Amino acid sequence: MLKDKNIVLGVCGSIAAYKSALLVRLLVKAGANVKVVMTTDATHFITPLTLSTLSKNPTLVDYFKADTGEWNNHVELGLWADMLIIAPATANTLAKMANGLCDNLLSAVYLSAKCPVYFAPAMDLDMWLHPATRQNVSRLQSFGNIMIPPGNGELASGLHGEGRMAEPEEIVAFLEAESKKKFLLTGHKILVTAGPTYEAIDPVRFIGNHSSGKMGFAIADVLASMGADVTLVTGPTAQTSKQQNIKRVNVTSAAQMLEACLSVYSDVKACIMSAAVADYTPADVATQKIKKQDGGLTIELKKTTDILKTLGEAKGAGQILVGFALETNDEEMNAITKLQKKNLDFIVLNSLNDAGAGFAGDTNKITIIDRELKQTSFELKTKEAVARDICDKVAQMING
Ligand code: CTP
Repeated sequence: MLKDKNIVLGVCGSIAAYKSALLVRLLVKAGANVKVVMTTDATHFITPLTLSTLSKNPTLVDYFKADTGEWNNHVELGLWADMLIIAPATANTLAKMANGLCDNLLSAVYLSAKCPVYFAPAMDLDMWLHPATRQNVSRLQSFGNIMIPPGNGELASGLHGEGRMAEPEEIVAFLEAESKKKFLLTGHKILVTAGPTYEAIDPVRFIGNHSSGKMGFAIADVLASMGADVTLVTGPTAQTSKQQNIKRVNVTSAAQMLEACLSVYSDVKACIMSAAVADYTPADVATQKIKKQDGGLTIELKKTTDILKTLGEAKGAGQILVGFALETNDEEMNAITKLQKKNLDFIVLNSLNDAGAGFAGDTNKITIIDRELKQTSFELKTKEAVARDICDKVAQMING
């Protein structure tokens, strides 16, 4: 899958830079056209000549070619690339990427690139665990950049732990798998819901919830990047999609979301219902703004239709239905009850008791429970990384 791909490999100043020689060799062996861009610090660890010889292309370090007075065109390089891989990615370069700093050729290529960007971190344990690095990694993932996770083991400092760059063979295997993923869901229509619903009380007020829509938008982006034809039905949110090929349907209330879902459901292969749908809506919506009066105010609520349950009852052969359960207590039991009651193929459980999980933030911690009640728990991750786990599971089920 890497055959004939144009790959820019960014090499930063880490002891792991010595592994770049093998990485270039493996990429070239896989049929890719490789151009290497190094930071100045990286040249202390491995020579540009080594990487030029192996890549069969000049290795670039500086903006300018001192001898001819020409400049190395970062925009052209960024546009040439089908993939940009930063390996090793140091804490310094990750920080620059996350904040748009542009003081060397590699960071300029990064800002100019329109292709998928992968980064393989390499640093010492404590640098890796520092909140600044964690935040930079989350930020990059929120841009859609993909991390090739570091391994656990002996580090150059003598410490032991996470922070070691993935081995070149692992990086190539990761990239091969990623390239295959691009087509994993081609030809499949998938419905995703996101965000809150707003239930009108009168022309100016509503009952809503704190859902940001981040999780559903991240899922829609990942599915689209895997080739799926995605319809995203979303409640009110400021989120925007990163992928171009997503049909967005804006709705406000639970009733509108139900209608929008039903209008496409019979045609889709899978539906992932991540919206936080209101369970109750005002029984009557006042046509005029309700005026303040002495004493309290009681608003009568009636139940909304459970969209997911309705879709579960209408589920056709081979259709895959996924729901979410956000719980505060008896998490597992509640999620299993929902899974069964709503006829789901799997349910994504998150508990408000887990720090970093739930509605508002950028991270989530999930457990997937399937029909056989097999549970898979994942660590706390960015919502983009969680979306990838959920979509991998959907792709696995679709492709058997
Ligand atoms: N859901 C839905 N329609 C509703 C309410 C919920 O489709 N009217 C979906 C949500 O999108 C989610 C799943 O059902 O995928 C579970 O939602 P949740 O609010 O956790 O569960 P409820 O079934 O509403 O139960 P409760 O609020 O009592 O926990």
